[in-house]
Parts: sequence; C-alpha cells; structure tokens
Amino acid sequence: MLLTLDRDAPTTTVDPAFRRDIIDGLRQSPKRTSARWFYDHRGSELFEAITDLPEYYPTRTETALLAAHGREVGALTGAGRAVIEFGAGSAIKTPHLLSAIAPGAYVPVDISGDFLRESSIVLAGQFPDLPVLPVEADFTDAVTLPDAVRGMPKLGFFPGSTIGNMTPYEAVDLLRAMRASLGDGAMLLIGMDRVKDEAVLVRAYDDAQGVTAAFNLNLLTRINRELHGTIPMDAFAHKAIWNDAAARIEMHLVATRSTAFTVDGVVFALEEGESIHTENSHKYGPRDARLLLRAGGWLPTHEWTDAGDQFALMLATAA
Ligand code: AVI
Repeated sequence: MLLTLDRDAPTTTVDPAFRRDIIDGLRQSPKRTSARWFYDHRGSELFEAITDLPEYYPTRTETALLAAHGREVGALTGAGRAVIEFGAGSAIKTPHLLSAIAPGAYVPVDISGDFLRESSIVLAGQFPDLPVLPVEADFTDAVTLPDAVRGMPKLGFFPGSTIGNMTPYEAVDLLRAMRASLGDGAMLLIGMDRVKDEAVLVRAYDDAQGVTAAFNLNLLTRINRELHGTIPMDAFAHKAIWNDAAARIEMHLVATRSTAFTVDGVVFALEEGESIHTENSHKYGPRDARLLLRAGGWLPTHEWTDAGDQFALMLATAA
C-alpha cells in the first residue's frame, strides 16, 4: 500500500494517551508497554517488511488461504453481504475476499483516519462498483455502521491474527463487541495463528535480517522523539520467547547493561537483564480457537488451514 503522509514529523504536542500508557507501563514490575504503540509511520513500514520475511509465515499463509478458499467462503455467506473489516484493509488480503464473495458494500473500521482513508482509496480504485464506506472508530467498542448497510446481512472480517495480540479476556470482549456491532444473522471470518513448533515461532519473531528487532526497538525511538525521552538505544536488545503456559510469543526489550533514563521528565532505571515486555502474540490450537469464538458469542462453522496446519481461517455465525 502506498503511504504518503509523514506521521513521524517532529511533534511539539504530546499524545496524552501515549504518555500515560508508556509512563504507567514503565512504572510496573515487570515493565510493559502496549503493542498498539508500535505503529507510527516507521513502525508500520517495518511491519510491512516483516510480512514479507521468509520466517514470518502468517501473512503469506493467510493470503494463500483466502485465494484458495474465497469462493467457498462466498458460497457459504451468499452474495450481497456488507463486509465490515475491523482494521484498515490490506491491499493484498482484502481484494481476495471482496472479489470472491460478491459483497453489497465494504466498510473498513479503523481508529486511524489516515490509514483508513488511504486504504479506502486503494480499495475503491480496485472495486469501482462497490460502495466503500469507511468508519473512523475504535472497534473495541460496539460501532455504529453506516445507514446504507443497515438492511444488508453482515460479514465481519478480522484477518492477520490480530486477535492474538490481545489477552484471551480482551479477545472475548472484542468478539462480543463485534457481535454487537454486526447484529443478528451476521457471520465472521477471522484469521488465527496456530500453536506450532517453538523454533518456527521464535524465528518468525526474531528473523535473521533483524527486521523484527528494528520494529521492536523503534518503540524506544518513538518514545524518545514524541515523549522527550532519553533512552539510550544501545542499552537494549530485542528478544522473542515462547511462553508455553500462556501459549504466546512474547517480545521484550532487554537491558544489556544497567541503565537509567527519563521519559517526559519521569526517571526510570533498569538492571542489566531486566526487560520491557512490549508484545504478546497468542497462538490458538483448533479447540482453543473454537472455544474462544464461542466465548465471544460466535458459533464456528467452517475452518480452512494450510497443509502444515500453520494458520487457520475460521468462519462463524452470530450465536
Ligand atoms: C499484527 N500482529 C498480528 C503481528 C503478530 O504476529 O503478532 C505483529 C508482529 N509482531 C512482531 N511481528 C509481527
């Protein structure tokens, strides 16, 4: 996707939510930050680069599943549904779905108006006859959909295994919010990454070229730039570990020496080896995934996986 806005220009005003979240998280023990703050302009570029890495299998596996099974999904959903995508659409994945299912409208929902406008323009260019109706909203709460789709049956679309970046509690809340947004008779197509060999998982989050390390470390650069931070970049290293008890990959920024710094005037210190926990990426086995959907108010009806059972695309109906 073509990104033209410069979101990394020096800022004089501090985003109060970013400041509060980072300072609160660094005050905790162990220190932690929310994965939502990775995605400034540079972070989004690095994430795009991650999706092309040989070690990062989720994006290409899910895209292949959509390409291979889109028609089947279309036969199950029927024509004329309004596709509600949670998150600004990807120029790679979304067209596979839209061209396979004969939708009545396409409604991307995202909190970032910039991304939403850019992806909507790209999608509208690719599907000139399809009404594209972006909604700028936080989809962790129930969303009011445009009047134009009120009478249409709905298909929610939540690809990318983004659900994995939430705790199971948050994931259930989100699924319930989607259920409330989409209403009775709705269906949901969701991508979920599967539990697999630990070495494959760790490599996917600690690639040989160091792109994921740069993605993780970019958070510190962002804190320094936007929150007047003094974090010494050379005192931190990227680490990805598999937490089997919680069934998740964790990303950390580990202090390679004892260090101290300030963020917007607030002082923090880390001992050598202490880490800032920056992301969780939960993985779901087949039964876990079905259980999660049920807990969130959805009845799973169909699922498609690749030959290696690496990633699953699941279709569910509103319970
Ligand atoms: C966006 N999300 C689903 C990615 C994931 O796999 O958890 C983010 C990511 N973090 C490191 N690599 C990719």
